[in-house]
Amino acid sequence: EKGGFDWFMRKEIYEQPKAVADTLLGRHDENGRLTLDEVRISEEELRRIDKIIIIACGTASYAGLVAKYAIEHWTRIPCEVELASEFRYRDPIVGPTTLVVAISQSGETADTLMAIRHAREQRARVLAVCNTNGATIPRESDAVIYTHAGPEISVASTKGFLTQIVACYLLGLYLAQVRGTKFGDEIASTMAELAAMPDAIASVLEDMDPVLKLAADFAEERVVLFLGRHVGYPVALEGALKLKELAYIHAEGFAAGELKHGPIALIEDGLPVFVVIPPRGRDMLHDKVLSNLQEVRARGARTVVLAEADDDEVLPYADVLVPLPKVSTLLQPLLATVPLQMFACELATLKGHDVDQPRNLAKSVTVE
Ligand code: M6R
Repeated sequence: EKGGFDWFMRKEIYEQPKAVADTLLGRHDENGRLTLDEVRISEEELRRIDKIIIIACGTASYAGLVAKYAIEHWTRIPCEVELASEFRYRDPIVGPTTLVVAISQSGETADTLMAIRHAREQRARVLAVCNTNGATIPRESDAVIYTHAGPEISVASTKGFLTQIVACYLLGLYLAQVRGTKFGDEIASTMAELAAMPDAIASVLEDMDPVLKLAADFAEERVVLFLGRHVGYPVALEGALKLKELAYIHAEGFAAGELKHGPIALIEDGLPVFVVIPPRGRDMLHDKVLSNLQEVRARGARTVVLAEADDDEVLPYADVLVPLPKVSTLLQPLLATVPLQMFACELATLKGHDVDQPRNLAKSVTVE
């Protein structure tokens, strides 16, 4: 049933091109307009939404952090991301014009369920992004967008994460279409970019050797840091979470711009630091993260750099380069996360851990 793989996790990592393709399937009508049939909230109501709050736990919350950048950019609706376990304990400001988006692979996570119940009591509209048909969270929501990742068996979420990002992007584009903040052509061009992602992810998967070798080199490490900025920041958080839960290594993800406000004090000779470099573009993002990379390298860090394949500027500062295909900034998390998943999976394997069932963890956390 593991299809020849040693772990469900590894199998699920390789299923990501298909999972993303399936999640994108059938989202157009005959006129090329984006349709999300499962979103049973009227266009009228969607036009009245003045705030979005994404609630989720763990990896799903990082998908939410990625989505926030895209949703605000496309829709101009303020969007917050909150850990489900914190949401109802802070007396959140929600009402009938708030759209609460609950992201949950399993659809059974108690913290997320309690949060949406609280949101509905305050008359917010609740939309679930879920991978499990008929689970409790979508049943208790006003609407649902299903990710079509197929069953995710491994405790560590992989294809769940990528498809959550895709589903949230579909939601963002749909809201932009309904509200007129982004128009036909622009939506079509973003959809075309998304449609190219399964092949791009597959090409990342074809070249996993450097990552596997890296895991062997880093098997004895006790601390690993991850840096990213903009949508690369949640990728850093996700890379760190994977290492914690699978390899039981102390790992931290930082927003690269925060380095100088504290974490740079941690850097010492030989410390492994992964850096997610944004694609080169019109904004300054790429250069900013490049200078963060230089700063940690100058202080002795051993750097693993995830960057566009032809990004020569990073080469002098990369002990190891993990090349990524060219995509726009918002789509890079769909590629940059994949080597980090594989790295954690391989490292945990080398350490002799049960990758699919890490200690102290359960696939769905049904207690608060
Ligand atoms: O089923 P959910 O998406 O609600 O689960 C949320 C988290 O418990 C989950 O993503 C957890 O962080 C994973 N083990 C991460 O790999």
